[in-house]
Amino acid sequence: MPGGTVPTIRVLPLTETDRPWANALLTERWGSTRMVTRGAVHDLTQLPGLVAWYGDDRAGLLLYRPAGAEWEIVSLDSTLVGHGVGTALLAAIRQLAQTNGCRRLWLITTNDNLPALRFYQKRGFHLVAVYPDAVTEARRLKPEIPVLGLEDIPLRDELELEIVL
Ligand SMILES: CC(C)(COP(=O)(O)OP(=O)(O)OC[C@H]1O[C@@H](n2cnc3c(N)ncnc32)[C@H](O)[C@@H]1OP(=O)(O)O)[C@@H](O)C(=O)NCCC(=O)NCCS
Repeated sequence: MPGGTVPTIRVLPLTETDRPWANALLTERWGSTRMVTRGAVHDLTQLPGLVAWYGDDRAGLLLYRPAGAEWEIVSLDSTLVGHGVGTALLAAIRQLAQTNGCRRLWLITTNDNLPALRFYQKRGFHLVAVYPDAVTEARRLKPEIPVLGLEDIPLRDELELEIVL
């Protein structure tokens, strides 16, 4: 960076211009633009979202499902791990949700995703439920879900985390 300047992170609403980038990122990360949580298939191409910009580059994506007082974070991906992108997206969705009357922000992650468990718990989320073998069920709806997850941990269970706003 010229003069050692660190680019600032800005979080903006996802626009249709962002969609091709978002859809490519989701397909690369999650095998398709479909996500299954709690037995429901979500079409990620249709969900509202937030994009984190690191200088002039897109560096993170959060998609959410606003549902009255309970909003679900359906996906969160950073392409620049360890630079504050995920934290900025999480702060932005908390703010947006709270401003719009949401009382509970929740999400599903999977039993293999130890980095996500660490990340969310360090940012105020609580583990509130474990759904044993829910991923095994989800795989029937989305066969592209791999058998092994991070660090080759068998991908089996859904974990629900929440933060009360
Ligand atoms: C989980 C995930 C979204 C975190 O995104 P991220 O951009 O790396 O998040 P941050 O940079 O804000 O924070 C990550 C860590 O980097 C540290 N960090 C923050 N800013 C930093 C900086 N400028 N330099 C170095 N480290 C920094 C943070 O302290 C944090 O560490 P901590 O958890 O010990 O506090 C990202 O790892 C990811 O995309 N994972 C794959 C997809 C996924 O699993 N999503 C969650 C399931 S829904």
